[in-house]
Amino acid sequence: MRLLLAIFEGIVFRTVLAMCPESDHWGGWWGYDGYSSGPTRWGDNEDWTICKSGKHQSPINIEPHKILFDPHLQPLQLEATAISGLFRNNKKDLTFLVNGQGVGVNITSGPLSYRYRLYQIKLHFGRENQSGSEHTVDGRGYDGELHFMAYNTELYANYTEAQTSPRGIAIVAVFLTIGKFDHSAFKILQERFFVIDKQDTCTDIQNFPLADLLPKSIEHFITYSGSLTQPGCRESVTWVILNKPIHISQQQLDDLRTVPYQEWRDSNARPIMPLNNRTIRTNINFRKRSRLCSMDVSKKYQANEDLLRR
Ligand SMILES: *[C@@H]1O[C@H](CO)[C@@H](O)[C@H](O)[C@H]1NC(C)=O
Ligand SMILES: *[C@@H]1O[C@H](CO)[C@@H](O)[C@H](O)[C@H]1NC(C)=O
Ligand SMILES: *[C@@H]1O[C@H](CO)[C@@H](O)[C@H](O)[C@H]1NC(C)=O
Ligand SMILES: *[C@@H]1O[C@H](CO)[C@@H](O)[C@H](O)[C@H]1NC(C)=O
Repeated sequence: MRLLLAIFEGIVFRTVLAMCPESDHWGGWWGYDGYSSGPTRWGDNEDWTICKSGKHQSPINIEPHKILFDPHLQPLQLEATAISGLFRNNKKDLTFLVNGQGVGVNITSGPLSYRYRLYQIKLHFGRENQSGSEHTVDGRGYDGELHFMAYNTELYANYTEAQTSPRGIAIVAVFLTIGKFDHSAFKILQERFFVIDKQDTCTDIQNFPLADLLPKSIEHFITYSGSLTQPGCRESVTWVILNKPIHISQQQLDDLRTVPYQEWRDSNARPIMPLNNRTIRTNINFRKRSRLCSMDVSKKYQANEDLLRR
């Protein structure tokens, strides 16, 4: 029986594992802890000096009293069709590489002046409660953070080119937090955690319900200009951090925390980088008051209560 099971599992696993695309040649060098390869050393690589010297780096801590209400910010548009692609354990994080063929998922409006196309979704997480998100709000982290990464298709041929170019990348960030129930879309990923349990392995996922991985409302967000949070830390990113988190169950979080072959100790979140006087804007006018001109509104804008409510 056991032998039969082993054979059966062998067949199943062989069919769900897929070939990974080749990593870039620096892929193995950097990490999240350790004196010689941790985040403080990323900038030592000559291609990545901006990790160290850049003034518009990410992630940041979002201080609610510094967020400005911008009445001209439109709601974000994301055409969430089903997606297919490769789900990869690359040792640093888990990444869903969206299949480049087909019409593509467009992200527009909000703070974006161009059309961006989704190319990958990255999962950042940690071992402890309220650690694992890259951005923090008022000094507090969440249990994880999903990055829906898109590149500017109006100006650039592919994300490699877009990463190093002005207005090249848009990242929609969604915080992960714990809830009472299993999250149905997250479950599809969760079921694969222990398939991609070897170093740098991939599995094929078809017709993934992207819309279900996003919060029900994506209308409200905060936005700022920053960088990629992994090397080369390019400052080509428009960040859109959604106001609403998604909720996964304790079991789902436990499974995420114990994904094998993640090469970091506490979390794969880059430490907080200085804001350096950048403006953080929002389209949430939580103190909506008529008869005020917009300048007054922005001066009066205060913390986004939704982000603060835990
Ligand atoms: C995204 O935009 C492109 C260019 O306008 C379009 O061809 C494509 O159909 C759009 N994708 C979806 C899912 O509508
Ligand atoms: C983390 O959260 C879980 C569920 O909310 C709780 O059972 C556990 O005690 C927490 N762990 C710590 C170290 O606070
Ligand atoms: C990306 O586009 C650039 C410019 O068109 C091209 O030189 C490069 O080969 C492309 N890279 C990939 C990975 O397709
Ligand atoms: C931020 O702004 C203050 C006041 O305008 C200025 O003194 C300071 O040098 C600025 N800091 C950076 C890093 O730009």
